[in-house]
Amino acid sequence: MGKLNLLIVEDNLLVGAAVRDILKAAGHDVFVVENGESGRRAVSDQTFNVILLDLMLPDVDGQVLLEEWHQAYPDTQIIVMTAYGDIPLAVECLKKGAYDFLTKPVEKVQILKTLEHLQAVRKASVLTELSKRDADTAEIQEIIGSSPEFNRTIDMTQRVAENDFSCLFLKGESGTGKGLFARTIHKMGRRRDRPFVEVNCSALPPTLIESELFGHRKGAFTDAKEDRVGLFELADGGTLFLDEIGDMDIALQSKLLKVIEEQRFRRIGGTSDITVDVAIIAATNQHVEELIASNQFRLDLYYRLNVIPLELPPLRDRMEDVDAIAKHFIAIYSRKFGKKIRGFSKSATAAINKYSWPGNVRELRNVVERGCLLAKGRTISDEELMFPEIRNGGTPADGDIECLPAMPLAKAEELVIQAAMDDAEGNKNKAAKILGVQRNALSKKLEEYGID
Ligand SMILES: Nc1ncnc2c1ncn2[C@@H]1O[C@H](COP(=O)(O)OP(=O)(O)OP(=O)(O)O)[C@@H](O)[C@H]1O
Ligand SMILES: [Mg+2]
Repeated sequence: MGKLNLLIVEDNLLVGAAVRDILKAAGHDVFVVENGESGRRAVSDQTFNVILLDLMLPDVDGQVLLEEWHQAYPDTQIIVMTAYGDIPLAVECLKKGAYDFLTKPVEKVQILKTLEHLQAVRKASVLTELSKRDADTAEIQEIIGSSPEFNRTIDMTQRVAENDFSCLFLKGESGTGKGLFARTIHKMGRRRDRPFVEVNCSALPPTLIESELFGHRKGAFTDAKEDRVGLFELADGGTLFLDEIGDMDIALQSKLLKVIEEQRFRRIGGTSDITVDVAIIAATNQHVEELIASNQFRLDLYYRLNVIPLELPPLRDRMEDVDAIAKHFIAIYSRKFGKKIRGFSKSATAAINKYSWPGNVRELRNVVERGCLLAKGRTISDEELMFPEIRNGGTPADGDIECLPAMPLAKAEELVIQAAMDDAEGNKNKAAKILGVQRNALSKKLEEYGID
């Protein structure tokens, strides 16, 4: 993640300091001012990548500053900070050019996620800019790979992005680049200047997702203390990325299908229809056919989404790309850690080319990151890959099994499941993949063993 130069304009000293600390800890440069006039001085003095702007300032109206700065410094992204009840105001700000808004109290994950997203978008738009001047294929330069298998995918991606699509289904194993492709497709299409809104359907319980997507009216249910704008509204004119759609509740799936077909919906508890123009990119790393067979995914939604299917191939089917992708990440992490790493040693190169990469590009990225961190010289040796699976060329269990004392089979199963959940950082899809079982089967086992 690159380093940003940020300005915080916030009159509440405590809030300003808290936000500053979060951003500093994330490695960014931060400058804090307490009113609009000092803000004006700061922006004319130095260039900021991002401004976090409180809307209620003692001297100048935050919205005035927003318009002023958005005009004068189009490359600076402005994120407004508002009280939770002011969401309609925040939406107003988005229309005036704010990149995003944060509701107070501003939470760490919220800020960092917004910045991460902003950086991804910045990178994509920088590339788009470059490619406008360059050859037209340079548009998706940051996506690395030139194997025939992958070239077909890229061709298809370009065609999809150039023709305004209404929905697109991205399939592929975990770590194959679905998130990256979704953002790139948005950035390449005619919607590029409109919002790209991302929602992970497995991260929230079904009831919350529904109000997240469609918004709600005050009083629609117990916790609905205020009106809330849904993501469909926020994404108007742009793209809504529904990640891990295989985990979406089946009742919500039919509602989603209806919204896709009609481009119209109601907020929960609302009485009037809201019309939107939103392109949908749905993604999953599950076998949808199996979900359909077990009644967890609606066939009609599948048909609708699958009008344009785009399948990202696993890395093991395009091993020719491994070296190029590894090089790409070496350049990134070598710079990040302030080193001058050129590549892998001979035996490390052989090892990464022999490995089957079940975690795909993400796993390769992580291995390179760790290698760059540990490397003492200009090349990463196979010890510095620190990767027993790679070095043995076998499965992780091969080496470790002797360490396990004899125990009841069920106990061993529990331990293995726990380990998989730990490795997957609690993500059930990933854990299921590691274990080679269906998510349902895993859920049953988790319940059985009382694992969270
Ligand atoms: N072809 C590629 N070139 C460069 N980087 C890539 C490529 N494919 C994936 N990546 C990078 O690999 C990482 C994992 O990709 P991404 O998060 O898009 O995977 P995903 O398919 O969405 O995985 P999941 O199903 O687990 O969400 C990201 O850092 C992404 O930028
Ligand atoms: Mg993803």
